[in-house]
Amino acid sequence: MEKAKIRELIDTAIAQLSYSYTPYSHFKVGAALLGKNGQIYTGCNIENAAYTPTNCAERTAFFKAVSEGVKEFEAICIVGGPEGKLVDYTPPCGVCRQVMMEFCRPKEFQIILAKGKEDYKIYRLEELLPQGFGPGNLED
Ligand code: THU
Repeated sequence: MEKAKIRELIDTAIAQLSYSYTPYSHFKVGAALLGKNGQIYTGCNIENAAYTPTNCAERTAFFKAVSEGVKEFEAICIVGGPEGKLVDYTPPCGVCRQVMMEFCRPKEFQIILAKGKEDYKIYRLEELLPQGFGPGNLED
């Protein structure tokens, strides 16, 4: 992916931190999901007083896109940290990796973990979810 596109995804993910709703953990996460249609779908984490209904930033972005009819994706950028400070990379949780597995090709889908505009690492879904169970496993 071009550097300019990576920077755009990082900037977009960082901008989402201001919408992150985290009165309980104070750990803010922002995501920018790039569809194969070129559109960027944004997400933030949204917590809940009952805790378990909390939605991660990545799934917010995926569900926004899928709910608009978009099901093909190229990459996602994830940023996060305590009070939104980017002190480390924020890798996706296991549940979010599984949602990626539903809609993305494991060998192709890129996961960009960023700590700053010039400080990022890129993984393929296959690396973060080896031997993942996906739609293909249910085919005859
Ligand atoms: N969180 C995400 O938004 N994405 C992840 O993949 C990791 C965890 C959120 C959930 C919760 O609001 C906070 O980070 C602390 O777990």
